[in-house]
Amino acid sequence: MCGIIGYAGCRPAVPVVTEGLHRLEYRGYDSAGVAFVRDRSFCVIRAKGRLSALEEKLAAVQTATSTCAMGHTRWATHGVPAERNAHPHCSNDNSLAIVHNGIIENFQELKAELAEKGYVFHSETDTEVLVNLIAECRKDEPELLRAFAAALRRAHGAYAVCLMERNAPDTFYAARMSAPLIFGVGTGENFAASDIPAFLHYTRKVIFLDDGDIVQATAKEYNMFRLEDLEPVAHEPQTVLWDMQAAQKSGYKHYMLKEIFEQPRVMTEALAGRISEQGDTVLLPELDNLPAPARLYIVACGTSWHSALWGRHLLEDWARVPVQVELASEFRHRDNFLFKKDEMVLVISQSGETADTLAALRIAKERGATVIGLCNVIGSSIAREAAAVLYTRAGPEISVASTKAMCSQMLMLALLALYWQARRHNPDESSRCPPRRQWISALVSLPPMLGDALSAMHETARRLSRKYAQARNFFYLGRGHCFPLALEGALKLKELSYIHAEGYAAGEMKHGPIALIDSAFPTFAIALDDPLFPKTKSNIMEVQARQGKVIALTNGETDLAADDVWTIPRLPSPLAGFVVLPALQLFSYEMADYLGKDVDQPRNLAKSVTVE
Ligand code: F6R
Repeated sequence: MCGIIGYAGCRPAVPVVTEGLHRLEYRGYDSAGVAFVRDRSFCVIRAKGRLSALEEKLAAVQTATSTCAMGHTRWATHGVPAERNAHPHCSNDNSLAIVHNGIIENFQELKAELAEKGYVFHSETDTEVLVNLIAECRKDEPELLRAFAAALRRAHGAYAVCLMERNAPDTFYAARMSAPLIFGVGTGENFAASDIPAFLHYTRKVIFLDDGDIVQATAKEYNMFRLEDLEPVAHEPQTVLWDMQAAQKSGYKHYMLKEIFEQPRVMTEALAGRISEQGDTVLLPELDNLPAPARLYIVACGTSWHSALWGRHLLEDWARVPVQVELASEFRHRDNFLFKKDEMVLVISQSGETADTLAALRIAKERGATVIGLCNVIGSSIAREAAAVLYTRAGPEISVASTKAMCSQMLMLALLALYWQARRHNPDESSRCPPRRQWISALVSLPPMLGDALSAMHETARRLSRKYAQARNFFYLGRGHCFPLALEGALKLKELSYIHAEGYAAGEMKHGPIALIDSAFPTFAIALDDPLFPKTKSNIMEVQARQGKVIALTNGETDLAADDVWTIPRLPSPLAGFVVLPALQLFSYEMADYLGKDVDQPRNLAKSVTVE
């Protein structure tokens, strides 16, 4: 999704802003631009494509004297990726320039109204409508802050915006509504950006703006107000503990590879302080004030939804909590959910900003549910709006394709299942629940075990990717807790390498999909040594009987006669998922890299999906 940055300080602003845009690249974009004031008029430079195209143009422009600027990376929503649609956009009279992340839902209506008044539009964007609306409001409210607020009050939808004025070239304004925007407080300089890495090089002091906050900032001061009535608001800056090192590649070829290899550390972080000294109790004090639910709904999108499907098995088996898993984009448009008092909703989101998941959280709250969040990004919207939040502590995930975040979500779901198992302790059921201490100690032993295994797994993934790189289609099969992992394997392959891949419950193959199998349509089967193994083995044989090639991922002394048997370290199911997951990730990574795809920023994708 779009990335924005605003800067006012003492340094040449354009390099600060372009550097910030580089740090926001991971969000996905198709064009970029910057604006600053020079010689009493706006200098707006925009380019389609990568930031290098923008930088080439900037090299030919005198930028050194400006100490206030703003920049934008655009992920097209209204209008094709083209220079004319790239931000910043200026008002017709060139007095104002704006950058925007989000969608103004009533922009057609506002555009028609402004067109009647004689405004002309040079782009297809909702953003150009907004900047002209501010200019129009200014006719009644000469003070820009008031005109800005008046225009935003008329805009429905989601936005994070930065605004500059030609006649006050050292000031920028920013506002937020349902889209991420963080204010950075420096010494003699201030920032606003879609994400912290954009300015972390300069300051660790941040303010997580709330929806409905509006800010006026210069190098020396900043003032924050409520959009509603322009009453001042005071937010205490917080200090970010992680540094740029955590958000850089550390010698790996891609962020994705680095993040896959970080998973043992991520698990250690997630476990830290969450197991009692005796090793028999999970500590989640964030949830101690909330009763364990009689039923749980888990709502999420994409990879986080796959984590939810995987976690359901543990929550049902270990904690005996019945679980319903919902796609946020579907859940938010169904009105048949009325929550009972003892029911709970868990929303899972790495970014904590996914528009559908955030909307689902709000709807669930309106309908009386207690909502807890499982998030990675501290201070994100979901984290702030949930009644309680569990942080996954995976650190910044830069690669667009999610890897370590899923591992940390799975770990937290396992901890949650054990935590609620203890809270719900029911003597009739306890004999059916597996012993907690055994699972806790298995979880604690996971990180070193995975750390030892990853390099060899990477080698196998590399070899197999070369062998199967010609395939244009792939099936991923799994049963039980391996079915969500099969879905995730297929998602990773298609999003990174653009090879069509489908994840299926292995038992469903014969109900239709098997018709597609031939010698050019391989199958990646997850066939672990567990009670479901004989059934998955039969499914593999059915595929092979139709000349389908099979990679079988297994973890035991199985008698599989697949084309390629990939044996990974043995762990008791369902924890084996923590080894299956990186195997799937590494296979997709190697496939995409071998095929020359843009691994960290696949086409058409955005890291944080802040539009519906
Ligand atoms: C896939 C991927 C996406 C996200 C989805 C939800 O690799 O990253 O499917 O999982 O957009 O994002 P979050 O978890 O931030 O809500």
